[in-house]
Amino acid sequence: MCGIIGYAGQSGDTLDVLLGGLEGLEYRGYDSAGVALSNGDLSVCKREGELYHLQEAVDGGLDGPVGIGHTRWSTHGPPSNQNAHPHTDCSDDVAVVHNGIIENYDDLKDDLADRGHEFDSDTDTEVVPHLIEERLAEGATFEEAFRSAVARLEGSYALAAVSEDSEAILATRRDSPLVVGVGEDAAYLASDVPAFLDYTDRVVYLDDGEFARLESGSWTVSDAEGKLLEKSVSRVEWDAEETAKSGYDHYMLKEIHEQPRALRKCLRGRVDELTGSVEVDALEGLNPESVQFVACGTSYHAALFGAQALREAGVPAQAFLASEYAVAPPPIPDDALVVGITQSGETADTLSALREAQRRDARTLAMTNVVGSTAARECDGALFIRAGPEIGVAATKTFSSQVVACNLLAAALGDRGDAREVVEALRDLPGQVQELLDSSRAEQVAERFLDAKGYFFVGRDYNHPVSLEAALKMKEITYKHAEGFAAGELKHGPLALVTGKTPVFAVVTGDDETATKTVGNVKEVEARDAPVVAVTDGASEVERYADAVLEIPETHPRVAPVLANVQLQLVAYHTANKLGRSIDKPRNLAKSVTVE
Ligand code: AGP
Repeated sequence: MCGIIGYAGQSGDTLDVLLGGLEGLEYRGYDSAGVALSNGDLSVCKREGELYHLQEAVDGGLDGPVGIGHTRWSTHGPPSNQNAHPHTDCSDDVAVVHNGIIENYDDLKDDLADRGHEFDSDTDTEVVPHLIEERLAEGATFEEAFRSAVARLEGSYALAAVSEDSEAILATRRDSPLVVGVGEDAAYLASDVPAFLDYTDRVVYLDDGEFARLESGSWTVSDAEGKLLEKSVSRVEWDAEETAKSGYDHYMLKEIHEQPRALRKCLRGRVDELTGSVEVDALEGLNPESVQFVACGTSYHAALFGAQALREAGVPAQAFLASEYAVAPPPIPDDALVVGITQSGETADTLSALREAQRRDARTLAMTNVVGSTAARECDGALFIRAGPEIGVAATKTFSSQVVACNLLAAALGDRGDAREVVEALRDLPGQVQELLDSSRAEQVAERFLDAKGYFFVGRDYNHPVSLEAALKMKEITYKHAEGFAAGELKHGPLALVTGKTPVFAVVTGDDETATKTVGNVKEVEARDAPVVAVTDGASEVERYADAVLEIPETHPRVAPVLANVQLQLVAYHTANKLGRSIDKPRNLAKSVTVE
């Protein structure tokens, strides 16, 4: 959840690479940032607040051939200059950056304090440079001291360290991502590839327990005993252009507009439009009889959709919150497949749930956006959603791609021969999303209800996950109260909150019995003076009871949720924009949540 960057190359370039890399990692955390550069002397600069505070403070003033940087999402201690990384030892000779949680830091800190070490911060991380310092004082090399310090840590970590006596960056990981970038005459290190994508697309993914040593233009990876490992260098498909804002005011808006392309990529090579058949390579050899989805946040909403789609296709399926599954797992049937839906592939709760399933001998599949992510590497199979990099903290295009990928799973695993209609609808979906983006009246709706005290979203069946997702998006980026409900549940309690100042967004598609029941629920809120916004394909009567309408085209019921959700993404975006919120980096949040 914090972001780490490292560079070993040429003096003169280091600060630019580090600061540029931190910009690319800000989505992981942005409450403080810092850098440490070494050129025989160690210089450290760190600042509370967003990255520009650090940029102003360093003002080009630090140099050296190696350096590390960090952007923080607080776990131990509030955002402050002291708690910002890098952290140093007593004599400021060693600097360390860390992502994760060191669980035994209290004991280590007490021991170190008893031996005279002084601490400046509230963080768990600060014990690491002091442990390194102790071993250096005993005559160990920097690498020996680093390994010995790491051996004493419990918990999760991606760590990188520099020392004033060495031109190397030392790094290691356990349960937190870390990737090496291989340049012509420089080596890079980061929590995530976009941090150095301007310089190289050749990467080496570190596995848990491995150690990397980066020097100007060279890198090695070794195991815990120091034995050198042969690691393969992969090429990443994303390019730097994809991770830029490309003229949009916010990444979120750019990513909303990228959905037609993302969806085409997700479908490419997986559906046969002529026969209606669906091929999902990732399922090869798995042949499950039932499915359990585990996921968090937006991905959990996609999982709810996926479980419903599979059940309708004849495959028993359930969706679980990964954080609950990890601590209170359900029985797993013998032929079940546990599918982790995770955009980043690094969410600690989801990884923990998948590992729990593996411990109980279940087969696992990662549905993820990131090739080389921990989930992709640890599961028996990986189904890539191919949405391209998503930088905005609020997930948008990846939700749409996850819903499409769930449709593919349902068609591949079940569907009793009626996949053809879904496939036809999926084929038309990217074009429909484009038309909707071009014609949406979401901005006017956002303006009209800008003063609302809170927002409610309701839907049934496949539109229930959409109502949950729309509410999450709204609260995440506008900081206003928003809740999503199964429409039928309103009358069991939440209706007490509904007033003339709480618009209710009702997602109603089709004109079947489900739609009729939802229209009935809409009448109930209308009778309590609540303004109603209908998100609808016009097939039902809901518009008669609506104060505003957001239209979507008619399509298959398993595809309509994507279209309805795009309208609601835009409502959340425009509401947040008009309120002047920090859309891409909402307060207290981070894109990739690598702590439990
Ligand atoms: C949603 O906008 C959030 N970014 C969040 O709920 C996110 O979906 C969740 O943290 C799971 O992330 P993942 O898909 O990378 O596992």
